Amino acid sequence: MELFETITGRRSVRDYLDSAISEDDLRKILDGARWAPSWANKQCARYVVVKDSPVKAGLKETLTPNNPACDSFDACPIVIAVLGRLKTAGYKKGVAHDDRQWHMYDCALATQNVCLAAHALGLATVIVGAFDYRAAGEILGVTDDYQVVCLLPLGYPKRTPDAPARRDLSELVHTDAFAE
Ligand SMILES: Cc1cc2nc3c(=O)[nH]c(=O)nc-3n(C[C@H](O)[C@H](O)[C@H](O)COP(=O)(O)O)c2cc1C
Repeated sequence: MELFETITGRRSVRDYLDSAISEDDLRKILDGARWAPSWANKQCARYVVVKDSPVKAGLKETLTPNNPACDSFDACPIVIAVLGRLKTAGYKKGVAHDDRQWHMYDCALATQNVCLAAHALGLATVIVGAFDYRAAGEILGVTDDYQVVCLLPLGYPKRTPDAPARRDLSELVHTDAFAE
């Protein structure tokens, strides 16, 4: 698939087929995540591949009520939990560069690679950010030096929604100085 087609054609999919994902495809997707850029190449992102139905059901319970992605957790064969190692991205010798949460940034880059790689392979994902990350961490046995950043249901799409509208470029892009 051509890159720009992959970028624009990727959708957040919430309805999945009950079809297995090959280990080869899963490995390609995770390898795509591994090649994402990261702060000082610290590679703080980690991945928990959840295949076990009771664990998936437990993660589903951590979602916000009425989260549109709830049903995805029943149908998809795999959920990938993206974890960030704390105090590595944006840190040098234990001192923070600034007060921004750079582990979130690194995990987002890795997450986008997962989403694009999945789409390029005919699979689909939805990034789930609205959930109780502490409760999800407890379910997954995550230690204090890591944080669950997002959950990614992964599977073959049963229904791919139309693309939600994007703002016009003229609203987003400024030249030389920002203007509201
Ligand atoms: C950081 C982040 C958090 C998100 N959290 C959720 C979520 O909790 N539940 C959900 O159904 N979709 C979630 N989404 C998916 C967005 O709703 C979706 O990306 C957006 O509507 C644009 O649609 P598209 O991905 O198909 O282009 C999230 C997306 C991002 C980037």
